[in-house]
Amino acid sequence: MSYSSIKLATSGHTAVIAVSRASALNALNSVVLDELDAALAEVRADKDCRALIITGEGEKAFVAGADIAEMRDLGPDEAVSFARRGQAVFRAIEELPIPVIAAVNGYALGGGCELALACDIRIASENARFAQPETGLGIIPGFGGSVRLPATVGRARAAYLILTGKQVNAADALAMGLVSEVTPRESLMARAHDIAAELAARSPVALAHAKRTLATCAKAYEREALEFGKCFDTADPKEGMGAFLERRKPGFAR
Ligand code: CAA
Repeated sequence: MSYSSIKLATSGHTAVIAVSRASALNALNSVVLDELDAALAEVRADKDCRALIITGEGEKAFVAGADIAEMRDLGPDEAVSFARRGQAVFRAIEELPIPVIAAVNGYALGGGCELALACDIRIASENARFAQPETGLGIIPGFGGSVRLPATVGRARAAYLILTGKQVNAADALAMGLVSEVTPRESLMARAHDIAAELAARSPVALAHAKRTLATCAKAYEREALEFGKCFDTADPKEGMGAFLERRKPGFAR
């Protein structure tokens, strides 16, 4: 299958999906989500494939979030559907029976951080930056971050990151357990392939069962989608996301 906004390649037992939308720092619009979904189905069907690496093309970003231009004018019901769509694609990563490694280069913000969180193992290059900046846009994380971030770094750190939108660098991400390793930019993919090769030598049956036991509870995501939608019943998303697109500071009324 051919894709316009992602790339799928396989070498040996390892598949690599690279989000490839340079014009918007690899932001996740509906096309990227659909293509990710299709690529994950391809990987799932490939019985030779024993590990998957997800990364972002280019020097600057892993993924700079869900697409703000696409979200700005959503109504509340459309916003719930958008969140459910992203959640479903990311659950397909979690439910893939093979291990998934996020190789995070540059910005992993909002939906980009959530994409990394949906992977089983995260490694980062020294220039990686993580954040959930949504509250500054008048919205909340909508692609599973409200569930996976506290499960990964603990509730206190997750609350701090989600409420403040603060960016953390690779060293801080390592210290809080958000990533397992930090590498120089030039060795990121080689290290991801090494980990994939180590995993490919282990029992695929046991890895699949280990993943199933680690999976988060599907029900937990619905509350996030509904709260995400409720934000869009107010003026704040248009103000917050409009401000980003117009390159100005937002003003939120109480
Ligand atoms: N959506 C849409 N477009 C985006 C984008 C996004 N998330 N992030 C960056 N872009 C676009 C910019 O609009 C810009 O496009 P133009 O050249 O056409 O103007 C291009 O990518 C380059 O971005 P910048 O000029 O802003 O680059 P910079 O180096 O000055 O800043 C950045 C980089 C700090 C990552 C900045 O782009 C940024 O803050 N991006 C938004 C990050 C963000 O808020 N992400 C969360 C989105 S909400 C979300 O993800 C919700 C969810 O959970 C579902």
